[in-house]
Amino acid sequence: MTMDIKTFTFPLRGDDRGALVAVEQLKDIPFEIKRIYYIYGTRSGVRRGFHAHKTLDQVLVCVNGFCKVLMDDGEEKKTFILDKPYEGLSVPRHIWHEMFDFSQDAVLLVLASDLYCEDDYLRSYEQFLTFIKGK
Ligand code: TYD
Repeated sequence: MTMDIKTFTFPLRGDDRGALVAVEQLKDIPFEIKRIYYIYGTRSGVRRGFHAHKTLDQVLVCVNGFCKVLMDDGEEKKTFILDKPYEGLSVPRHIWHEMFDFSQDAVLLVLASDLYCEDDYLRSYEQFLTFIKGK
């Protein structure tokens, strides 16, 4: 199985004043955006995430600085670097993910297809493997 991770290059609408990037639901990314959240001020050496989702789809954009993302579908692992404010990386449902190597100035913006729901989380790797095997 190959992981279906997509990258999106958003249109740059900047001019001589500077950069501007706009992201529209169902146009620049394939779902309706019901929630955004962002992570910044991440302490050096911190690794976070360590979960998968049952139904949530997300797109990550590192709008400042850089960070890395490990994705794991239970069979294969891939690491991605996010370092461009005009690029999105999909984190589809059923993918275990971990974010790490945050630069001090990293701001990681997450566009999510649904509201926060703790029941949607698979927070242990064992629970994740059991869930995807039962699909
Ligand atoms: P957590 O799931 O630990 O973040 P990460 O996946 O980056 O490791 O989230 C930290 C806390 O924030 C946790 O108590 C849940 C809460 N939270 C919300 O209330 N709403 C949200 O949209 C998110 C992403 C987290």
